[in-house]
Amino acid sequence: MRTLIIGIMAIVLLAPVAFTQELPAGEEAMGSKEYDQYEKPEACKSCHVDIYQQWIQSMMAQAYTHHWDEIEYFDLAVAHGKVDEDYWEVSHGCNGCHTPIAFLAGDVPPPRPGENSRANEGVSCDICHTINSFRGDVPFNFNYVSEPGRVKYGPKPGLVSPHHETRESDFMKQAEYCGDCHNEKSPFGVWVKSTHLEWKEGPYAEEGVPCQECHMPKAMGKNAKMAEESMVAQHLFHGAHSPSKLRGVIELRMHPDLREVEYDEVVAIKVQLVNAKAGHKVPSGSVEDRIMWLHVTATDAEGKEYHLPVDKKGFEGEEYTIGADALAYQDLGIPKQIPDFEGLQRDGIPIGDRIFRMPYFDPEGRMTMMQWYTKSLGVDYRIGPRETKIETFTWQLPDDIAIGKVTFKAVLNYQLLVKPVADFLGVPEEESEIFVINETSTWIEVYE
Ligand code: HEC
Ligand code: HEC
Ligand code: HEC
Ligand code: HEC
Ligand code: HEC
Repeated sequence: MRTLIIGIMAIVLLAPVAFTQELPAGEEAMGSKEYDQYEKPEACKSCHVDIYQQWIQSMMAQAYTHHWDEIEYFDLAVAHGKVDEDYWEVSHGCNGCHTPIAFLAGDVPPPRPGENSRANEGVSCDICHTINSFRGDVPFNFNYVSEPGRVKYGPKPGLVSPHHETRESDFMKQAEYCGDCHNEKSPFGVWVKSTHLEWKEGPYAEEGVPCQECHMPKAMGKNAKMAEESMVAQHLFHGAHSPSKLRGVIELRMHPDLREVEYDEVVAIKVQLVNAKAGHKVPSGSVEDRIMWLHVTATDAEGKEYHLPVDKKGFEGEEYTIGADALAYQDLGIPKQIPDFEGLQRDGIPIGDRIFRMPYFDPEGRMTMMQWYTKSLGVDYRIGPRETKIETFTWQLPDDIAIGKVTFKAVLNYQLLVKPVADFLGVPEEESEIFVINETSTWIEVYE
């Protein structure tokens, strides 16, 4: 008995103790199914014509093939697993959400997208319509239960199809259904994706407005070509990759504390930001990649432009929320095998602008965009659902300012991926294009 206990202790002590947490919740399902148990999206297309045309255009259909996914998965996650075996199994987990059928078939790492394998189906019709519950109490890390076969779960009762059986599922209409893949815990037990949890804490959960209502709105149409017209759940899944979804998601308004100002006075401009449209924080989801920032300028009567830095509020960790000439992402040197990598520009935006983000930190406390390598989180300075934030820009008018009208402009910018990271990794421009979420202006009169 004693030797057994000592033996167990030795194993526990010798085992790599990098992680505080058991492997991802859905990990045990890897290799439990075969590709052939799942139908191809093309099989559904012949009858569900319109829904197919929507889905194929959505990020769901591109969850494995999209250029940035390919780069992050193969060049960072898989590469990381190759240089540090602790991360090899962690890299398999990516597929549990991005290409579930490859994961369930145990085909990991799957062939590259260029090889046109079934992994390319991404988040497909048949995976989503065979999910009917999740394991445990909290949906996260692909802990969905999928039972492939003749039964397709859907929102409506008693529908008849020549190709399959249908079964009404209340689960499909709930936010928890989405949470299986839209909540993610890192191996260190840190919530690195929490769209569903943010929603749950917010006003929309209380009002009974699930994800589906905003991301799969219903409209009159046919859910199958031979069906009667009815209100049909749309399958475009528009999110941060959809300019029309993103535009205006935060409302902006600003006002000065003085309207008439002497040329040597100080004026304080207040900018109000309201998250009026999103059911969760903005940004949400891939928070480690995203950057949203507020840029304020003043233009005097002669057209000279000044850039106004934001007033500091003094909260802990605020330095990560103000554009700076700072380096970060040194841990990219691990998968890229660059010894003593000095890092990249953290923000790549004008210095002094307010940033709405939550920084992620690697085990050495350096800011990271490798969410699976995240050991802690910094200050959460994002804008919650229906939350209002106010930023102040106090400005000492320059001596040489032109007399007359001064116009202030506030622009709220957004990038899916921080530009210096995109450039370094060779991610196509579209992922780091500057997108204007909103803008507004106000003015003062300067007199002598
Ligand atoms: C041969 C035609 C055909 C094919 C192929 C087909 N379906 Fe259907 N499906 C139908 C019809 C018809 C209905 C019922 C539509 C109605 O009455 O509103 C239906 C209904 C559904 C529903 C709604 C169930 C509900 O309870 O709300 C789902 C989900 C569904 N199909 C999924 C799929 C998936 C996934 C595939 C591919 C794996 C597929 N179907 C392939 C014809 C087809
Ligand atoms: C009240 C409407 C509403 C609800 C409810 C809602 N969303 Fe959103 N969602 C939006 C809007 C608007 C955006 C675009 C702004 C943005 O990207 O943050 C968005 C963006 C997203 C994004 C992209 C986020 C990013 O920054 O990359 C994801 C993923 C997402 N939603 C998933 C969900 C999930 C999952 C739920 C339920 C748990 C949900 N949404 C509930 C409105 C909603
Ligand atoms: C990310 C998961 C997901 C994917 C991928 C997906 N669906 Fe759905 N589908 C849903 C959900 C959730 C609903 C129910 C939404 C609701 O009613 O709130 C639904 C509803 C449906 C319905 C019933 C629509 C209605 O309102 O009558 C059909 C039919 C359907 N899906 C077919 C398909 C087909 C075909 C594909 C692939 C081309 C597909 N789905 C891809 C999750 C998905
Ligand atoms: C099986 C896993 C899975 C399920 C279930 C799932 N999603 Fe997703 N979803 C993903 C993945 C993976 C992506 C990212 C695709 C990419 O960009 O690579 C995504 C992307 C999205 C986007 C696009 C975000 C953007 O940046 O444009 C929206 C919106 C979204 N999902 C909403 C939902 C909603 C609503 C549900 C529930 C009805 C849901 N998802 C269920 C895996 C899933
Ligand atoms: C628990 C499910 C889950 C796991 C595990 C997961 N992802 Fe994702 N991933 C998502 C969802 C959902 C999104 C979309 C979030 C959004 O739109 O903001 C996403 C977005 C992404 C994106 C960003 C695409 C874009 O929207 O710009 C990349 C790249 C990515 N994942 C790669 C990975 C890699 C690599 C791994 C493994 C280390 C991984 N993911 C693990 C669910 C997951």
